[in-house]
Amino acid sequence: MGKVLIIGAGGVGSVVTQKCAQVPEVFSEITLASRTLEKCKKVAGLLPRAIRTSIVDADSTEQTAALIREVSPDLVINVALPYQDLSIMDACLETGVNYLDTANYEPPEQAAFSYKWQWAYDEKFRRAGLMALLGSGFDPGVTNVFCAHALKHYFDQINYIDIMDCNAGEHGHAFATNFNPEINIREVTARGKFWEEGVWKETEPLYIHQSFNFPEIGVRQMYLMYHEELESLVEHIPGLKRIRFWMTFSQEYLTHLRVLQNVGMTRIDPVDFHGCKVVPLQFLKELLPDPASLAAGYTGKTNIGCMIEGLKDGKRRKYYVYNVCDHQRAFREVGAQAISYTTGVPAMVGAKMMLTGKWAGKGVFNLEQFDPDPFMEDLARYGLQWTEVFPE
Ligand SMILES: NC(=O)c1ccc[n+]([C@@H]2O[C@H](COP(=O)([O-])OP(=O)(O)OC[C@H]3O[C@@H](n4cnc5c(N)ncnc54)[C@H](OP(=O)(O)O)[C@@H]3O)[C@@H](O)[C@H]2O)c1
Repeated sequence: MGKVLIIGAGGVGSVVTQKCAQVPEVFSEITLASRTLEKCKKVAGLLPRAIRTSIVDADSTEQTAALIREVSPDLVINVALPYQDLSIMDACLETGVNYLDTANYEPPEQAAFSYKWQWAYDEKFRRAGLMALLGSGFDPGVTNVFCAHALKHYFDQINYIDIMDCNAGEHGHAFATNFNPEINIREVTARGKFWEEGVWKETEPLYIHQSFNFPEIGVRQMYLMYHEELESLVEHIPGLKRIRFWMTFSQEYLTHLRVLQNVGMTRIDPVDFHGCKVVPLQFLKELLPDPASLAAGYTGKTNIGCMIEGLKDGKRRKYYVYNVCDHQRAFREVGAQAISYTTGVPAMVGAKMMLTGKWAGKGVFNLEQFDPDPFMEDLARYGLQWTEVFPE
């Protein structure tokens, strides 16, 4: 029914490819392309059906457009790094193909992710009669759909949203990141930011924290951070008074991070080392475990969800919707840890929404702009069951 070109054969790319391969009635042809061909071949070797593999440098719009012309897909699924978002979107515009990704653009030399660069493509996608779906991972992605689902079924108006992301897994390393170390550390070391009463408020990095009792996990400290779905939900959820994002970290992780920051290892500007220009964070990435390699020994669970408060029929109401994902269960199914799994499944489901026409439009969209029902149904069907409760 649909032909997809997946770009990026990392932890997430491996899961998306395997999940697409499980749904041949929608994903009839799959090509996986990445900077390193061996990684694509390794993923292809895990599959029960044949796919094509290819090498591409997605920083080059020319190379990416040439590959798109050769493959002639209905949709490009971008699970490379955020740095490639704009060059791949340009290639899609040049070749007339729809686009999906899981993380918003950030310039390599500036740790400042934002939708502003990709939202600026709206007019171009509209004029070309094409659709771009931004941020179809878990957070952003499922968390946006959770909010749309709450608004559609349980609220007349949503006033408060707290997105809470807990990874209570154990990988056995003193310090490792769950997805690309460079992107992850840039995100975690950024200043905290949340939106309240119409204005953005900033804090020192990881300054505000509180404990929360996560279902199936227990009590954990969670820290206020800026996260990309806040930017789009503020635009698309009417009546919002406050939205915040929280993530849990262990003391061990925070201590390592503080030391790495203090000694300059998280810097993103090039420094001169014996006549070579080295970006310390990129060098650190080479030393840290590849997130995909954590999967085999990873135990424990993740819990990511939204606590939402607002009004229904004039009365105040509180609603909590979340998913719990087990690292070992993800590993048994697709050889991945839960962070790659919880990103890869919604990327496949978003792609399915587009290829089956359940979600359609011309321009650039975030997930909360579409009907949440078919997405929520498929999310549970393809491995990410969700639970909803109405706490007191
Ligand atoms: N929304 C969410 O919930 C969520 C959660 C986690 C991650 N993410 C996003 O998912 C994406 C993938 O994360 P990941 O953990 O899978 O990262 P990863 O393991 O580092 O994989 C990234 C892959 O992209 C490839 N790549 C990098 N630059 C490329 C280029 N110029 N051309 C072609 N391929 C290139 C890499 O190739 P090499 O191996 O050859 O370098 C690698 O295979 C990231 O954008 C991340 O921010 C989203």
